[in-house]
Amino acid sequence: MCGIVGYVGEKQARDVVVEGLRLLEYRGYDSAGIALVAGGELGQTVLVSDKRAGKLANLEKAIAEDALPAATTGIGHTRWATHGAPNDVNAHPHLGPQRRVAVVHNGILENFARLRDELERAGHDLLSETDTEVAAHLIENEVLAGADLTTAMQNVCRRLEGAFTLVAIDAHDPSRVVAARRNSPLVVGLGVGENFIGSDVAAFIEHTREALELGQDQVVTITRDAVAVSDFDGNEAQGRQYHVDWDLAAAEKDGYDWFMRKEIFEQPRAIADALLGRHDENGQLQLDEVRISDDELRDIDKIVIIACGTSNYAAMVAKYAIEHWTRIPCEIELSHEFRYRDPILTRNTLVVAISQSGETADTLMAIRHAKKQKAKVLAICNTNGSTIPRESDAVIYTHAGPEIGVASTKGFLTQLVACYLLGLYLAQVRGTKYGDEIAAVVGELAAMSDRVQQVLDDADRVYALAERFKDTTSVLFIGRHAGFPVALEGALKLKELAYIHAEGFAAGELKHGPIALIEPGLPVFCVVPPRGRDQLHDKMISAIQEIRARGALTIVLAEADDDEVTPYADVFIPLPTVPTLLQPLVATVPLQLFACELATLMGHDVDQPRNLAKSVTVE
Ligand code: M6R
Repeated sequence: MCGIVGYVGEKQARDVVVEGLRLLEYRGYDSAGIALVAGGELGQTVLVSDKRAGKLANLEKAIAEDALPAATTGIGHTRWATHGAPNDVNAHPHLGPQRRVAVVHNGILENFARLRDELERAGHDLLSETDTEVAAHLIENEVLAGADLTTAMQNVCRRLEGAFTLVAIDAHDPSRVVAARRNSPLVVGLGVGENFIGSDVAAFIEHTREALELGQDQVVTITRDAVAVSDFDGNEAQGRQYHVDWDLAAAEKDGYDWFMRKEIFEQPRAIADALLGRHDENGQLQLDEVRISDDELRDIDKIVIIACGTSNYAAMVAKYAIEHWTRIPCEIELSHEFRYRDPILTRNTLVVAISQSGETADTLMAIRHAKKQKAKVLAICNTNGSTIPRESDAVIYTHAGPEIGVASTKGFLTQLVACYLLGLYLAQVRGTKYGDEIAAVVGELAAMSDRVQQVLDDADRVYALAERFKDTTSVLFIGRHAGFPVALEGALKLKELAYIHAEGFAAGELKHGPIALIEPGLPVFCVVPPRGRDQLHDKMISAIQEIRARGALTIVLAEADDDEVTPYADVFIPLPTVPTLLQPLVATVPLQLFACELATLMGHDVDQPRNLAKSVTVE
């Protein structure tokens, strides 16, 4: 939820840390702060720190006006508030009472009230409302008692409950930065004569593409020339080293006004990358990463897909596709509901966890629950080395590249591709579809990059629509079958970015209540299935007629040559002709463009919408 950076090396730590925070700001932007170990007046080193409420720009302005001293060791933080209001005092870093130790933190310390009480009874004066300050005081206590920073961190971590990534520096030891993780992301960047800590690799991608992924309950100490990993008891441990396959350019806006717009326009490439190397020229699928044997896949008798937010809408589409191709019953469930309802799971249940970030706490807790019940867990994820794929039995990476805009776009489309691949692969292994049938769908999938590009080439039509509706206060979205999750996704994008009332409905449900919302002039986006599925198509046209009869303004997304629906469209957005199950790949794109453009016209920050953060690493 928050972004954290740590650096030790030869460069100016202030610059490295602030630049890292800039690339991590999508993770939280309630406040930002920095702490450095710098030379003091009497020759010894001291902590210097600055922290400001609001976006990183506020911190940058403050440190430009009151330059921080030269230092080559530092930490930084960009916050999504959990404990305490987003003000200067609650901003990280938090310092111990004697300014010996500075700490930044991502996560929630669940036993902080008890620890705070203990500290206060021992005479500590805590300045903020945060749980983090408790950790700073505890670590400083250990250091003042003679422990080095690594041992101090280990000792304190054993006492902490909840989810945390902590990063600390010691005023008297500029040679090291120490970090620890439990249920929260942390990755080490391996440089030459310098090393880095980050919530994710974006924090240091400008400096190195070699990364070290840490395991659960581990502490890492970085110095200029070494990286040492241990568990919380101080036993030596190992991380997993890997090479990051994208670079700084991928994490920059590349001339677009927003990361989100850039990511929408990257979707044709992202779809192609998600398919790359996963099928041969005969349409035969090869999913080497699915480390579950074909025999085990044949024994699966139920699939449960868990996810949150946009990823949950990908799960809804996946259910239609997987059940259709494999005939395996498929349930979908929001991750945060899943483990609290005592789900029925067996060794023959395949739990599929969909998460762009791979760090969503609700989904992580859900897969742990599933594993305890002996179910097999397969992750569909975009972030290499993140926790959810690491704790799963198998993973299909979506290869979308870094998604920085808080609103998911290419993450969603590539999740859909991965779900389709999984469904077709299961059909191939279990023989529920003939090879040529699978090859035909794979061929359609391979053509989707071009189809999505076609929709993007028509973006101006959608931008004009946004201009027309820039003062609207309410928008509805309806769809059927695979178009229903598209409607939900269209509404979510608008809520997230434009902060207006937006609802998605299954078109068939309208007359059971929501039709009461229809009033003259209300814009309603209608996602019309391709004509190949006659019944669905005709029923959708009936729904459009019903709302139009009550004065709604219909914005119809349908096949370009669908002349059966055009008479009922106040505005028509043409879509390429594709199979019904794959239509979400093209139908979602105009809705993404609409939300992005409308929010831009309304003057909102599209990449950093209010109250949100990119990954939700607290339950
Ligand atoms: O990283 P995840 O896919 O697990 O994230 C799930 C949701 O938090 C995420 O999709 C969220 O709804 C986005 N802001 C949607 O745009």
